[in-house]
Amino acid sequence: MTHTEIINEINRLKTEKNAVILAHNYQIPDIQDVADYVGDSLGLSIEASKTEADLIVFCGVHFMAETASIISPQKKVIIPDLNAGCSLAASITLEQLRAWKLKHPDSVVVSYVNTTAEIKAESDYCVTSSNAVKVVNSIPPDKKILFLPDRFLGHYVSAVTGREMQIWNGACHVHEKIGDINFDNARIEHPDAEFLIHPECGCSSSCMLKSQMYFDCKDIHIFSTEGMINYVRKSNKSEFVIATEIGILHRLKKVRPDARFFPLSENAVCEYMKMITIDKLYYALLNEQYEVKVPEKIASKARLPIERMLAVV
Ligand code: 13P
Ligand code: SF4
Repeated sequence: MTHTEIINEINRLKTEKNAVILAHNYQIPDIQDVADYVGDSLGLSIEASKTEADLIVFCGVHFMAETASIISPQKKVIIPDLNAGCSLAASITLEQLRAWKLKHPDSVVVSYVNTTAEIKAESDYCVTSSNAVKVVNSIPPDKKILFLPDRFLGHYVSAVTGREMQIWNGACHVHEKIGDINFDNARIEHPDAEFLIHPECGCSSSCMLKSQMYFDCKDIHIFSTEGMINYVRKSNKSEFVIATEIGILHRLKKVRPDARFFPLSENAVCEYMKMITIDKLYYALLNEQYEVKVPEKIASKARLPIERMLAVV
């Protein structure tokens, strides 16, 4: 089949099976263009919770499909490649979390959505990068917090909310490496640009310090992927340096075709997100593969922290 024929078949199967295609902002352009909804982790979870489709095809990584399965247990959730994992979600195991909780018995556990269903089931709150600050602010001030697994997001949330937290030492391998880039050189190269930084980035803490300390750094902003899209849509600037996975550039260019976008690191590529291809999406729809179903024993415990996350938009 030609590329156009495959796209036509995907659209035909989607209607035939009453399916919805949800795609993360880091997906390849072809997937973003055929999807019904493209967004960040929070937006995708909200879409999964309210869709009337019978079949959810999740073009993202495994924990995102798990989250959809937990909040929509009556729907069939599939992912085109089961190997699409996440290094950040893999940076804490259930045993490690249980041991950590035992050391801090009077704390509440706040988990980033980039975690396995088992970890969510042991958590009190879930957050995404777009609502982590608001969720932490909603927790009574006398409660001690264990924040996991991303240390960069954790330090960012702690600085913005002023809350002291125990923070797990995890990181995403893609965003951690963005911290090695000489940020000041990029500012010299792009003097008129605004800098949009994902809070998972290794450079987020130093960038945040800069933006707070120096008057000339007020053009540095820390956002979730959808926060970047919304900011760029409204901004009257025409040059942006983007510090996150480069898949988002496709969407940014669609939103602001007149603007110029420069990735802080060309190498910021998540190989897990890129495992989802048009061919795999076609076979996923055709054969309804590969199903992601979280066992009800785990899902029933994970639902409350996820509902708390969905309630804070
Ligand atoms: P967002 O929720 O900002 O899209 O982030 C998800 C993610 O995996 C970032 O690496
Ligand atoms: Fe996970 Fe990092 Fe890939 Fe996001 S970019 S899915 S955090 S490995």
